[in-house]
Formats: sequence, structure tokens, C-alpha cells
Amino acid sequence: MKAVILAGGTGTRLKPLTYWTNKHLLPIGTYPMICHGVTKLREAGIRDIVLVTNRGSLGSFADILGSGKDWGVSIVYRVQEEAGGIAQALELARPVMKGKDKFVVLLGDNLFEESLKPYCEQYAKQSEGAMVLLKKVADPHRYGVPLLDEKSGRIVTIEEKPEQPKSDYCVTGLYFYDTQVFEMIDGVKPSRRGELEITDVNNAYALSGKLTYRELTGWWTDAGTFESLEEAGRRLKGAIT
Ligand code: G1P
Repeated sequence: MKAVILAGGTGTRLKPLTYWTNKHLLPIGTYPMICHGVTKLREAGIRDIVLVTNRGSLGSFADILGSGKDWGVSIVYRVQEEAGGIAQALELARPVMKGKDKFVVLLGDNLFEESLKPYCEQYAKQSEGAMVLLKKVADPHRYGVPLLDEKSGRIVTIEEKPEQPKSDYCVTGLYFYDTQVFEMIDGVKPSRRGELEITDVNNAYALSGKLTYRELTGWWTDAGTFESLEEAGRRLKGAIT
């Protein structure tokens, strides 16, 4: 299975640091954030990675990761000229994905304790549709929040950063898709903030009854705020050797 890492964006919640640096280049423990995602995907058996980032940061990612050789993977880079949302960034991977490929999408600021391999294996067996990973959190209003149909193991709908969350779960930034996702993106309209939202793409799958989920057992954190960046640093100290 291939993977797409999305490592662009403006990193608004980490200003002023992100005036000068792409969020995914900030240190977590003793390595830049991006290295943790690459290592995690490699551990899951993934060898081909498409990395999407903004023009100004491309050189820094290439300095750190190069062709991917030193990290045991092969990396293809795609450039997002303007920040237009997660789904718009994902669309840039379209020319690299072929036929009925199934692949993983990782938001580069999402960090996971457990191995992602079992989830990749489970999705590989899923006959159609998409799959997301959930985590119970204390502050669901910060995230995409799913309404679950526990009987069928499917998601009914997801609300992005709701004021009154319908569950205690967060949809984490690791998504499993087939190439149908690109048709789903074609059907998505810009949100109120003018971006193509990944939650709208996932809702297109949910609406057709094709969005399954699994619940993570280990810790999970994003690193998009100063608080979560610190938490990630504590948890991942010495994670890569
Ligand atoms: C994004 C997604 C959100 C998801 C989160 C996970 O939010 O839109 O649904 O729960 O990533 O990290 P963002 O962090 O870009 O605001």
C-alpha cells in the first residue's frame, strides 16, 4: 500500500513559529515532526510515499528526507501552490495513484503510539469504501466528530469542530481510501472558510454507507497547537534512534 503525507498548511495555531517554519519541520523529541510520520508508515510496511507540501518548504523537506533512501522508503514530492484545504492537497496526489490502488493518507502533524500495520491489513481486506481511525478525547469540539452506527461498524456522519459534539470521539488524521476518493473530492464545494474539507470527502463516503472505522487503543495526539506539540515531544522523546 502507498501513502500520502500532507505536510503543507499555514500552521495558524503555532504562530509565531510558523511565520518562518513549516509546522512539520518543528522538532518533536530529537527529530523534525515529519520524520515520525515517515517512520510510522515504514513500520507499517509502507515503502512508497507521496509528500505534499508548500513551495517555500519543499527544499527543507528534501534536505531532511531526500529520496527517502536513508529512511527506507521512496518519496515523491508534490507542491501545493496555495493553501486550499486538506482535500485540495490530497487531490495533488491523484496523478501518482493508479487504477484501483488503495492507500493511506496521513496528516503530518498526527502522531500515533501503536503500529498502524494491523489497520492497513484490515483496510486491505475491505471490499469497498473508506476507513478512518477514531480516538476518544476530552475535547472533541477541536476535531472532526463522528456519529457512529455501532451495529454496522459504519459512520453515519462527521461534523467538523462542532459546538455540541454528538460523541466523545475524534476522527484522527489517518485515512484509508481507494482511488474513488478523487471523484469524491471533485464533488466537494469549498467550505465557509473557502477550503476543500476532508470531512466533506469523508461524509460523501458516509452518505453512501461506505465509511467504516476502527478505534485506536494506544495514545494519539496531533501537534498543531503549542500544548499538543509539547505533549508530542514528551511522548516521543527518543522514539527514533
Ligand atoms: C483536521 C481535520 C479534523 C481532524 C483533525 C485531526 O483538522 O479537519 O477532522 O479531526 O485534522 O488532527 P485540523 O487540525 O486541520 O484543524
